[in-house]
Amino acid sequence: MGTLANKRVVLGVTGGIAAYKSADLLRRLQTAGAEVRVVMTAAATEFVTPLTFQALSGHPVHLDLLDPAAEAAMGHIALARWADVILVAPASADFIARLAQGEGGDLLTTLCLASIGPVAVAPAMNQAMWAKPATSANVRTLGERGIRVFGPAAGYQACGDTGAGRMEEPEVLTLGVAELFATGALEGRKVVITAGPTREAIDPVRYLSNHSSGKMGYALAEAAREAGADTVLISGPVALPVPARVRCVKVTSAAEMLAASLAEVADADLFIAAAAVADYRPRTVASQKIKKSGDTLSLELEPNPDIVATVAALAERPFVVGFAAETENLLDNARSKLLLKGLDLVIANDVSDTEIGFGSDDNQVLLISAFETLRPPRMNKAPLARLLIDHIATLMRTGGTANPAPEREVLV
Ligand code: PMT
Repeated sequence: MGTLANKRVVLGVTGGIAAYKSADLLRRLQTAGAEVRVVMTAAATEFVTPLTFQALSGHPVHLDLLDPAAEAAMGHIALARWADVILVAPASADFIARLAQGEGGDLLTTLCLASIGPVAVAPAMNQAMWAKPATSANVRTLGERGIRVFGPAAGYQACGDTGAGRMEEPEVLTLGVAELFATGALEGRKVVITAGPTREAIDPVRYLSNHSSGKMGYALAEAAREAGADTVLISGPVALPVPARVRCVKVTSAAEMLAASLAEVADADLFIAAAAVADYRPRTVASQKIKKSGDTLSLELEPNPDIVATVAALAERPFVVGFAAETENLLDNARSKLLLKGLDLVIANDVSDTEIGFGSDDNQVLLISAFETLRPPRMNKAPLARLLIDHIATLMRTGGTANPAPEREVLV
Protein backbone atom coordinates (compact mmCIF):
# COMPACT_ATOMS: atom_id res chain seq x y z
CA MET A 1 0.00 0.00 0.00
CA GLY A 2 1.26 3.50 -0.84
CA THR A 3 1.24 6.41 1.57
CA LEU A 4 0.10 9.92 0.80
CA ALA A 5 3.27 11.56 2.11
CA ASN A 6 3.86 14.81 0.21
CA LYS A 7 0.82 14.19 -1.98
CA ARG A 8 -1.49 17.04 -2.88
CA VAL A 9 -5.15 16.13 -2.92
CA VAL A 10 -8.02 18.26 -4.16
CA LEU A 11 -11.05 16.99 -2.27
CA GLY A 12 -14.21 17.77 -4.21
CA VAL A 13 -17.42 17.74 -2.21
CA THR A 14 -20.77 17.64 -4.01
CA GLY A 15 -24.31 17.89 -2.68
CA GLY A 16 -25.39 14.89 -0.65
CA ILE A 17 -25.91 13.94 2.97
CA ALA A 18 -22.63 11.99 2.88
CA ALA A 19 -20.86 15.36 2.68
CA TYR A 20 -20.70 15.30 6.47
CA LYS A 21 -18.28 12.33 6.18
CA SER A 22 -15.98 14.37 3.94
CA ALA A 23 -14.72 16.26 6.98
CA ASP A 24 -13.51 12.96 8.47
CA LEU A 25 -12.11 11.99 5.06
CA LEU A 26 -10.14 15.24 4.92
CA ARG A 27 -8.61 14.49 8.32
CA ARG A 28 -7.66 10.96 7.29
CA LEU A 29 -6.06 12.15 4.07
CA GLN A 30 -4.01 14.62 6.11
CA THR A 31 -3.03 11.95 8.61
CA ALA A 32 -1.81 9.81 5.71
CA GLY A 33 0.51 12.69 4.79
CA ALA A 34 -1.47 14.58 2.15
CA GLU A 35 -1.90 18.31 1.78
CA VAL A 36 -5.56 18.86 1.02
CA ARG A 37 -7.47 21.71 -0.66
CA VAL A 38 -11.25 21.55 -0.75
CA VAL A 39 -13.58 22.45 -3.61
CA MET A 40 -17.32 22.47 -2.91
CA THR A 41 -20.22 22.66 -5.32
CA ALA A 42 -23.05 25.04 -4.48
CA ALA A 43 -25.24 22.07 -3.49
CA ALA A 44 -22.58 20.76 -1.09
CA THR A 45 -22.67 24.03 0.87
CA GLU A 46 -26.33 23.29 1.67
CA PHE A 47 -25.19 20.25 3.65
CA VAL A 48 -21.92 21.38 5.28
CA THR A 49 -20.52 24.89 5.61
CA PRO A 50 -17.28 25.81 3.80
CA LEU A 51 -16.02 27.05 7.17
CA THR A 52 -15.82 23.45 8.43
CA PHE A 53 -13.47 22.48 5.61
CA GLN A 54 -11.56 25.75 5.81
CA ALA A 55 -10.86 25.17 9.51
CA LEU A 56 -9.80 21.56 8.95
CA SER A 57 -7.70 22.14 5.84
CA GLY A 58 -6.23 25.45 6.94
CA HIS A 59 -7.01 26.94 3.54
CA PRO A 60 -9.95 28.82 2.04
CA VAL A 61 -12.43 26.54 0.34
CA HIS A 62 -12.75 26.99 -3.43
CA LEU A 63 -16.37 27.54 -4.41
CA ASP A 64 -16.72 29.45 -7.67
CA LEU A 65 -15.23 29.20 -11.11
CA LEU A 66 -15.59 32.91 -11.74
CA ASP A 67 -14.50 34.33 -8.39
CA PRO A 68 -11.79 36.94 -9.15
CA ALA A 69 -10.39 36.84 -5.58
CA ALA A 70 -10.02 33.04 -5.56
CA GLU A 71 -8.60 33.06 -9.10
CA ALA A 72 -6.03 35.68 -8.05
CA ALA A 73 -4.92 33.47 -5.12
CA MET A 74 -4.78 30.22 -7.11
CA GLY A 75 -6.50 30.04 -10.48
CA HIS A 76 -8.45 26.94 -11.42
CA ILE A 77 -5.82 25.78 -13.90
CA ALA A 78 -3.10 26.27 -11.28
CA LEU A 79 -5.21 24.31 -8.78
CA ALA A 80 -5.67 21.48 -11.30
CA ARG A 81 -1.90 21.42 -11.86
CA TRP A 82 -1.20 21.63 -8.13
CA ALA A 83 -3.17 18.45 -7.44
CA ASP A 84 -1.52 15.05 -7.60
CA VAL A 85 -5.03 13.60 -7.46
CA ILE A 86 -8.60 14.89 -7.40
CA LEU A 87 -10.97 12.89 -5.22
CA VAL A 88 -14.66 13.76 -5.41
CA ALA A 89 -16.39 12.39 -2.32
CA PRO A 90 -19.30 12.30 -2.17
CA ALA A 91 -19.96 12.34 -5.91
CA SER A 92 -23.67 12.84 -6.51
CA ALA A 93 -25.57 11.29 -9.43
CA ASP A 94 -25.83 14.76 -10.95
CA PHE A 95 -22.09 15.40 -10.66
CA ILE A 96 -21.26 11.98 -12.16
CA ALA A 97 -23.62 12.69 -15.08
CA ARG A 98 -22.03 16.07 -15.73
CA LEU A 99 -18.51 14.63 -15.48
CA ALA A 100 -19.43 11.85 -17.90
CA GLN A 101 -20.69 14.49 -20.34
CA GLY A 102 -17.40 16.37 -20.12
CA GLU A 103 -19.15 19.47 -18.81
CA GLY A 104 -17.21 22.33 -17.29
CA GLY A 105 -19.98 24.57 -16.00
CA ASP A 106 -18.68 24.84 -12.45
CA LEU A 107 -15.34 24.85 -10.69
CA LEU A 108 -15.22 21.15 -9.80
CA THR A 109 -16.08 19.79 -13.26
CA THR A 110 -13.65 22.28 -14.79
CA LEU A 111 -10.87 21.10 -12.47
CA CYS A 112 -11.51 17.49 -13.42
CA LEU A 113 -11.37 18.46 -17.10
CA ALA A 114 -8.17 20.46 -16.63
CA SER A 115 -6.46 17.80 -14.51
CA ILE A 116 -3.57 15.85 -15.96
CA GLY A 117 -3.30 13.59 -12.91
CA PRO A 118 -5.62 10.90 -11.63
CA VAL A 119 -9.25 11.66 -10.81
CA ALA A 120 -11.33 9.46 -8.50
CA VAL A 121 -14.97 9.62 -7.48
CA ALA A 122 -16.84 8.07 -4.55
CA PRO A 123 -20.49 7.90 -5.60
CA ALA A 124 -23.12 8.48 -2.94
CA MET A 125 -26.82 8.49 -3.71
CA ASN A 126 -30.11 6.79 -3.06
CA GLN A 127 -30.09 3.11 -4.07
CA ALA A 128 -32.76 3.60 -6.76
CA MET A 129 -30.72 6.40 -8.33
CA TRP A 130 -27.62 4.20 -8.29
CA ALA A 131 -29.55 1.36 -9.96
CA LYS A 132 -30.81 3.50 -12.87
CA PRO A 133 -29.36 2.56 -16.29
CA ALA A 134 -28.43 6.22 -16.91
CA THR A 135 -26.26 6.26 -13.77
CA SER A 136 -24.71 2.89 -14.65
CA ALA A 137 -23.87 4.17 -18.15
CA ASN A 138 -22.33 7.34 -16.74
CA VAL A 139 -20.21 5.40 -14.23
CA ARG A 140 -19.10 3.05 -17.01
CA THR A 141 -18.08 6.05 -19.12
CA LEU A 142 -15.99 7.42 -16.26
CA GLY A 143 -14.26 4.06 -15.81
CA GLU A 144 -13.51 3.82 -19.53
CA ARG A 145 -11.88 7.24 -19.37
CA GLY A 146 -9.56 6.20 -16.56
CA ILE A 147 -11.49 7.82 -13.72
CA ARG A 148 -11.33 5.61 -10.66
CA VAL A 149 -14.68 4.83 -9.05
CA PHE A 150 -14.56 3.87 -5.36
CA GLY A 151 -17.67 2.03 -4.19
CA PRO A 152 -20.39 2.70 -3.46
CA ALA A 153 -20.95 0.53 -0.40
CA ALA A 154 -24.27 -1.09 0.39
CA GLY A 155 -26.29 -0.76 3.57
CA TYR A 156 -28.73 1.46 5.40
CA GLN A 157 -29.18 4.87 3.78
CA ALA A 158 -30.02 8.23 5.32
CA CYS A 159 -33.28 8.31 3.34
CA GLY A 160 -34.41 5.09 5.05
CA ASP A 161 -33.74 2.76 2.09
CA THR A 162 -31.29 -0.12 2.18
CA GLY A 163 -29.04 -1.00 -0.77
CA ALA A 164 -26.02 0.09 -2.79
CA GLY A 165 -25.34 3.81 -2.85
CA ARG A 166 -23.64 4.67 0.44
CA MET A 167 -20.35 6.54 0.12
CA GLU A 168 -17.38 4.31 0.91
CA GLU A 169 -16.06 4.89 4.42
CA PRO A 170 -13.32 7.55 4.72
CA GLU A 171 -10.65 5.02 5.74
CA VAL A 172 -11.39 2.88 2.66
CA LEU A 173 -11.22 5.95 0.41
CA THR A 174 -7.92 7.04 1.96
CA LEU A 175 -6.41 3.61 1.29
CA GLY A 176 -7.82 3.65 -2.24
CA VAL A 177 -6.28 7.04 -3.03
CA ALA A 178 -2.92 5.95 -1.60
CA GLU A 179 -2.98 2.85 -3.77
CA LEU A 180 -3.46 4.98 -6.89
CA PHE A 181 0.16 5.95 -6.48
CA ALA A 182 1.47 2.42 -5.96
CA THR A 183 1.86 1.22 -9.57
CA GLY A 184 4.08 -1.80 -8.98
CA ALA A 185 5.82 -1.04 -12.30
CA LEU A 186 9.26 -1.43 -10.65
CA GLU A 187 8.37 -4.09 -8.07
CA GLY A 188 11.45 -6.06 -7.07
CA ARG A 189 13.83 -3.67 -8.86
CA LYS A 190 16.62 -1.57 -7.35
CA VAL A 191 16.75 2.02 -8.58
CA VAL A 192 19.59 4.47 -7.92
CA ILE A 193 18.92 8.16 -8.56
CA THR A 194 21.30 11.12 -8.29
CA ALA A 195 19.79 14.50 -7.42
CA GLY A 196 20.65 18.06 -6.57
CA PRO A 197 23.85 20.00 -7.25
CA THR A 198 27.42 19.15 -6.41
CA ARG A 199 29.74 21.57 -4.65
CA GLU A 200 33.35 21.76 -5.68
CA ALA A 201 35.49 23.30 -2.96
CA ILE A 202 37.72 26.28 -3.78
CA ASP A 203 38.90 26.79 -0.23
CA PRO A 204 37.43 26.00 3.23
CA VAL A 205 34.59 28.55 2.79
CA ARG A 206 33.90 28.76 -0.95
CA TYR A 207 32.73 26.42 -3.66
CA LEU A 208 31.56 26.17 -7.27
CA SER A 209 27.99 24.94 -7.69
CA ASN A 210 24.71 25.53 -9.55
CA HIS A 211 21.04 26.25 -8.91
CA SER A 212 19.68 22.69 -8.75
CA SER A 213 17.15 22.36 -5.91
CA GLY A 214 16.86 18.58 -6.11
CA LYS A 215 13.10 18.75 -6.75
CA MET A 216 13.24 16.73 -9.97
CA GLY A 217 15.46 13.99 -8.58
CA TYR A 218 13.57 13.75 -5.29
CA ALA A 219 10.25 13.50 -7.16
CA LEU A 220 11.73 10.68 -9.23
CA ALA A 221 12.88 8.89 -6.09
CA GLU A 222 9.40 9.12 -4.62
CA ALA A 223 7.81 7.92 -7.85
CA ALA A 224 10.25 5.00 -8.06
CA ARG A 225 9.43 4.03 -4.49
CA GLU A 226 5.72 4.26 -5.25
CA ALA A 227 6.31 1.99 -8.23
CA GLY A 228 7.64 -0.62 -5.80
CA ALA A 229 11.39 -0.13 -6.28
CA ASP A 230 14.05 -0.43 -3.61
CA THR A 231 15.15 3.18 -4.09
CA VAL A 232 18.47 4.82 -3.28
CA LEU A 233 18.82 8.57 -3.64
CA ILE A 234 22.35 9.94 -3.94
CA SER A 235 21.88 13.57 -3.13
CA GLY A 236 23.99 16.67 -3.31
CA PRO A 237 23.30 19.43 -0.76
CA VAL A 238 19.61 20.42 -0.96
CA ALA A 239 16.95 21.62 1.47
CA LEU A 240 14.36 18.93 0.77
CA PRO A 241 13.10 16.19 3.10
CA VAL A 242 14.06 12.68 2.04
CA PRO A 243 10.94 10.85 0.77
CA ALA A 244 9.66 8.16 3.11
CA ARG A 245 11.13 4.68 2.57
CA VAL A 246 13.88 5.97 0.28
CA ARG A 247 17.49 5.40 1.37
CA CYS A 248 19.48 8.59 0.96
CA VAL A 249 23.25 8.84 0.63
CA LYS A 250 24.31 12.46 1.12
CA VAL A 251 27.32 13.69 -0.81
CA THR A 252 28.89 17.03 -1.58
CA SER A 253 31.28 16.82 -4.51
CA ALA A 254 31.14 15.07 -7.89
CA ALA A 255 33.92 12.73 -6.78
CA GLU A 256 31.83 11.68 -3.75
CA MET A 257 28.75 11.28 -5.97
CA LEU A 258 30.69 9.03 -8.33
CA ALA A 259 32.00 6.87 -5.48
CA ALA A 260 28.52 6.53 -3.97
CA SER A 261 27.00 5.74 -7.37
CA LEU A 262 29.54 3.03 -8.13
CA ALA A 263 28.99 1.51 -4.68
CA GLU A 264 25.23 1.34 -5.29
CA VAL A 265 24.86 0.39 -8.98
CA ALA A 266 26.51 -3.03 -8.82
CA ASP A 267 23.16 -4.69 -8.04
CA ALA A 268 20.90 -1.98 -9.47
CA ASP A 269 18.43 -2.39 -12.33
CA LEU A 270 18.07 1.28 -13.13
CA PHE A 271 20.30 4.34 -12.73
CA ILE A 272 18.82 7.82 -13.25
CA ALA A 273 21.21 10.78 -13.24
CA ALA A 274 19.08 13.80 -12.37
CA ALA A 275 21.86 15.58 -10.50
CA ALA A 276 23.40 18.74 -11.87
CA VAL A 277 27.00 17.66 -11.53
CA ALA A 278 29.72 20.29 -11.83
CA ASP A 279 31.65 19.54 -15.00
CA TYR A 280 34.81 21.07 -13.55
CA ARG A 281 36.43 21.43 -10.14
CA PRO A 282 39.36 23.53 -8.91
CA ARG A 283 42.62 21.70 -9.64
CA THR A 284 43.80 22.49 -6.11
CA VAL A 285 41.74 23.28 -3.02
CA ALA A 286 43.35 25.97 -0.89
CA SER A 287 43.84 24.79 2.69
CA GLN A 288 43.16 28.29 4.06
CA LYS A 289 40.61 30.91 3.03
CA ILE A 290 41.95 32.68 -0.07
CA LYS A 291 42.70 36.30 0.82
CA LYS A 292 41.43 39.15 -1.29
CA SER A 293 44.36 40.53 -3.30
CA GLY A 294 44.40 42.35 -6.62
CA ASP A 295 41.52 42.93 -9.08
CA THR A 296 41.23 39.46 -10.47
CA LEU A 297 41.51 35.94 -9.21
CA SER A 298 42.20 33.02 -11.52
CA LEU A 299 41.14 29.52 -10.72
CA GLU A 300 42.55 26.56 -12.58
CA LEU A 301 39.86 23.95 -13.16
CA GLU A 302 40.09 20.31 -14.13
CA PRO A 303 37.27 18.11 -15.42
CA ASN A 304 35.21 16.06 -13.02
CA PRO A 305 34.57 12.42 -13.87
CA ASP A 306 31.34 11.94 -15.82
CA ILE A 307 29.24 9.85 -13.44
CA VAL A 308 26.46 8.73 -15.77
CA ALA A 309 28.89 7.91 -18.59
CA THR A 310 31.02 5.90 -16.15
CA VAL A 311 27.99 3.88 -15.05
CA ALA A 312 26.85 3.40 -18.65
CA ALA A 313 30.30 2.05 -19.55
CA LEU A 314 30.28 -0.67 -16.87
CA ALA A 315 30.38 -4.22 -18.21
CA GLU A 316 27.46 -5.23 -15.96
CA ARG A 317 25.35 -2.13 -16.20
CA PRO A 318 21.82 -1.18 -15.22
CA PHE A 319 19.38 0.59 -17.55
CA VAL A 320 20.87 4.09 -17.65
CA VAL A 321 18.87 7.31 -17.91
CA GLY A 322 20.51 10.73 -18.06
CA PHE A 323 19.17 14.24 -18.17
CA ALA A 324 20.26 16.99 -20.52
CA ALA A 325 20.02 20.52 -19.14
CA GLU A 326 20.28 22.83 -22.11
CA THR A 327 19.88 26.52 -22.82
CA GLU A 328 19.95 26.17 -26.64
CA ASN A 329 19.55 23.52 -29.36
CA LEU A 330 17.72 21.28 -26.89
CA LEU A 331 17.00 18.37 -29.19
CA ASP A 332 20.38 18.22 -30.95
CA ASN A 333 22.42 18.66 -27.78
CA ALA A 334 20.36 16.07 -25.93
CA ARG A 335 20.67 13.55 -28.79
CA SER A 336 24.46 14.04 -28.69
CA LYS A 337 24.46 13.27 -24.96
CA LEU A 338 22.43 10.10 -25.57
CA LEU A 339 25.15 8.85 -27.91
CA LEU A 340 28.29 10.26 -26.28
CA LYS A 341 27.40 9.08 -22.78
CA GLY A 342 26.01 5.72 -23.97
CA LEU A 343 22.56 6.25 -22.39
CA ASP A 344 19.38 4.25 -22.90
CA LEU A 345 17.23 7.34 -22.51
CA VAL A 346 17.87 11.02 -22.13
CA ILE A 347 15.39 13.41 -20.53
CA ALA A 348 15.98 16.86 -21.98
CA ASN A 349 14.89 20.08 -20.33
CA ASP A 350 15.33 23.70 -21.29
CA VAL A 351 16.88 25.33 -18.23
CA SER A 352 16.87 28.81 -19.78
CA ASP A 353 13.14 28.98 -18.90
CA THR A 354 12.94 29.76 -15.18
CA GLU A 355 9.40 28.32 -14.95
CA ILE A 356 10.50 24.82 -15.93
CA GLY A 357 14.15 24.56 -14.95
CA PHE A 358 16.26 24.79 -11.81
CA GLY A 359 14.19 25.21 -8.66
CA SER A 360 10.83 25.38 -10.46
CA ASP A 361 7.83 23.26 -9.45
CA ASP A 362 7.04 22.44 -13.09
CA ASN A 363 9.10 20.93 -15.84
CA GLN A 364 8.66 20.23 -19.52
CA VAL A 365 10.83 17.57 -21.03
CA LEU A 366 11.61 15.65 -24.16
CA LEU A 367 12.14 11.90 -23.77
CA ILE A 368 14.75 10.83 -26.28
CA SER A 369 15.78 7.25 -26.92
CA ALA A 370 17.34 5.61 -29.95
CA PHE A 371 13.82 4.76 -31.11
CA GLU A 372 11.63 7.76 -30.51
CA THR A 373 11.31 11.26 -29.12
CA LEU A 374 8.26 12.08 -27.00
CA ARG A 375 7.02 15.35 -25.60
CA PRO A 376 4.73 14.97 -22.56
CA PRO A 377 2.88 18.14 -21.54
CA ARG A 378 4.35 20.60 -19.05
CA MET A 379 3.59 19.30 -15.56
CA ASN A 380 4.34 19.68 -11.91
CA LYS A 381 7.51 17.68 -11.20
CA ALA A 382 5.68 15.11 -9.01
CA PRO A 383 3.19 13.83 -11.63
CA LEU A 384 5.88 14.22 -14.29
CA ALA A 385 8.17 11.97 -12.25
CA ARG A 386 5.45 9.31 -12.10
CA LEU A 387 4.99 9.54 -15.86
CA LEU A 388 8.76 9.26 -16.37
CA ILE A 389 9.06 6.25 -14.08
CA ASP A 390 6.17 4.52 -15.88
CA HIS A 391 7.76 5.27 -19.23
CA ILE A 392 11.17 4.02 -18.12
CA ALA A 393 9.64 0.85 -16.60
CA THR A 394 7.95 0.15 -19.94
CA LEU A 395 11.22 0.71 -21.83
CA MET A 396 13.00 -1.65 -19.43
CA ARG A 397 10.36 -4.31 -20.02
CA THR A 398 10.16 -3.96 -23.80
CA GLY A 399 13.71 -2.87 -24.53
CA GLY A 400 12.30 -0.58 -27.20
CA THR A 401 9.49 1.89 -27.76
CA ALA A 402 7.09 2.62 -24.97
CA ASN A 403 3.88 2.72 -27.04
CA PRO A 404 3.28 6.38 -26.27
CA ALA A 405 -0.11 7.41 -24.99
CA PRO A 406 -2.00 9.41 -27.62
CA GLU A 407 -1.69 12.70 -25.76
CA ARG A 408 2.08 12.56 -26.09
CA GLU A 409 3.45 14.21 -29.17
CA VAL A 410 5.78 12.01 -31.17
CA LEU A 411 8.53 13.89 -32.96
CA VAL A 412 10.37 12.48 -35.93
O1 PMT B 1 17.02 20.02 -9.18
P1 PMT B 1 15.95 20.89 -9.82
O2 PMT B 1 15.98 22.32 -9.31
O3 PMT B 1 14.57 20.26 -9.72
O4 PMT B 1 16.27 21.02 -11.38
C1 PMT B 1 16.20 19.87 -12.16
C2 PMT B 1 17.39 19.80 -13.15
C3 PMT B 1 17.32 20.94 -14.14
C4 PMT B 1 18.70 19.85 -12.38
C5 PMT B 1 17.24 18.40 -13.85
O5 PMT B 1 16.01 18.33 -14.51
C6 PMT B 1 18.37 18.18 -14.83
O6 PMT B 1 18.34 18.59 -15.98
N1 PMT B 1 19.46 17.48 -14.35
C7 PMT B 1 20.71 17.31 -15.10
C8 PMT B 1 21.55 18.54 -14.99
C9 PMT B 1 22.86 18.42 -15.74
O7 PMT B 1 23.88 18.43 -15.14
O8 PMT B 1 22.70 18.25 -17.02
P2 PMT B 1 23.95 18.13 -18.09
O9 PMT B 1 23.31 18.28 -19.42
O10 PMT B 1 25.03 19.06 -17.73
O11 PMT B 1 24.48 16.65 -17.87
C10 PMT B 1 23.99 15.56 -18.65
C11 PMT B 1 23.86 14.32 -17.79
O12 PMT B 1 25.16 13.92 -17.34
C12 PMT B 1 23.03 14.50 -16.54
O13 PMT B 1 22.29 13.31 -16.36
C13 PMT B 1 24.05 14.67 -15.43
O14 PMT B 1 23.56 14.19 -14.18
C14 PMT B 1 25.18 13.81 -15.94
N2 PMT B 1 26.51 14.22 -15.50
C15 PMT B 1 27.01 15.43 -15.87
C16 PMT B 1 28.31 15.76 -15.51
C17 PMT B 1 29.07 14.84 -14.76
N3 PMT B 1 30.30 15.13 -14.39
N4 PMT B 1 28.55 13.68 -14.41
C18 PMT B 1 27.30 13.34 -14.77
O15 PMT B 1 26.80 12.26 -14.43
